[in-house]
Amino acid sequence: MKQKPHNYAPVERSTSSGIPPITDQFGRTFNYLRIAVNEYCNLRCIYCMPEEGIPFRSKNKLLSTEEIFRLITIASQMGVSKIRFTGGEPLLRKDLSKLVKFANQIPLIQSVHLTTNGILLGKYIKDLEQAGLTGINISLDTLKAERFKMITRREGLDTVMDGIEKAIESDIPSVKINIVAMRDFNHDELVEFAALTQDNDMTVRFIELMPFDSHQIWKTGKFYRAKHIVADLKKQIGAMEQVNGSNTEHYVFRIKGYRGKVAVIPAYSRSLCSACNRIRITADGKLRNCLYGHEETNLRDAMRDGDSNESIEQMIRKSMRKKYKDGWEAQSQGKEHRESMTQIGG
Ligand code: GTP
Ligand code: 5AD
Ligand code: SF4
Repeated sequence: MKQKPHNYAPVERSTSSGIPPITDQFGRTFNYLRIAVNEYCNLRCIYCMPEEGIPFRSKNKLLSTEEIFRLITIASQMGVSKIRFTGGEPLLRKDLSKLVKFANQIPLIQSVHLTTNGILLGKYIKDLEQAGLTGINISLDTLKAERFKMITRREGLDTVMDGIEKAIESDIPSVKINIVAMRDFNHDELVEFAALTQDNDMTVRFIELMPFDSHQIWKTGKFYRAKHIVADLKKQIGAMEQVNGSNTEHYVFRIKGYRGKVAVIPAYSRSLCSACNRIRITADGKLRNCLYGHEETNLRDAMRDGDSNESIEQMIRKSMRKKYKDGWEAQSQGKEHRESMTQIGG
């Protein structure tokens, strides 16, 4: 199976609002905004956070509902057409459906997505559906109850499975499962996960482990490289046809006769950077121009200091202009100061 070629995305000349789109010096256009709405989480995945958690910021340090509304409005006028709410666990935020509804009613926004651990999905699925959510990515690293407990340090496999079922039954068009693939943890579950795509029109995605945790499980030899995951899938499953997927999905297959898709995300190998279209805002309102970057632009304080929309727009543009060619170059510029992925939003 070949990787997608490294084509730079064509530069768009103008957005529907007439304001120029957000671009960088490598010809990339940024139309996908990921907003972490929360740092807190009801699980403690071993690759993400220590058992005791991290020093979570107090609520007033995080973006308020109104501040998120404002950033979505500004971004949409700059050509952002896809919003994803991440965290921490976004469903622990009481205003999440309100945020989805707000983003959904902006005509310039074409899709509104959520990445969740699925624990509270069953409870909120109707609200999310009514708010107009167009996609849900659910993180689930194992289908075995004991392993679930070991990886997340909490109970909850049945609850997450129930949430996934409800998501599939709902009118929400896109449902995906995110599995962080690790050797000696879940490398033996590729086939079981892929089997979920037989009767369900959803995507099951295996993700490379990334070095974003203060306990550095990264250094324990659990890393499972995307190309090895692909090779093992081919060996274990056999006939698969190559199909199209989203920007992070660099190897996408459909098993013959199955309804859904299987994909692999080279989150560590970073063979996806040339087509990067992402802007990230951390839960405390800092813009990051790359997942692996270190520089942050404080949009929260700018808003709290009374800056105009034009000034916020310029801050976003300036930061994205400075984006490095890829995540390797971005990472080499300094040391990560965030303790957990939960603060950045993945
Ligand atoms: P789709 O829009 O459905 O493709 O979702 P997504 O892959 O953009 O988002 P999701 O939150 O489901 O992330 C899945 C995995 O990909 C997570 O482990 C993310 O951390 C990782 N990921 C998302 N965006 C990037 C990125 O820009 N670079 C890298 N290296 N990894 C990313
Ligand atoms: N490496 C790879 N993926 C990670 N995620 C969280 N931490 C890591 C990591 N260290 C995943 C979650 C979720 C998505 C937002 O990021 O499992 O699916
Ligand atoms: Fe974009 Fe950075 Fe992710 Fe590469 S590592 S895809 S440049 S955010």
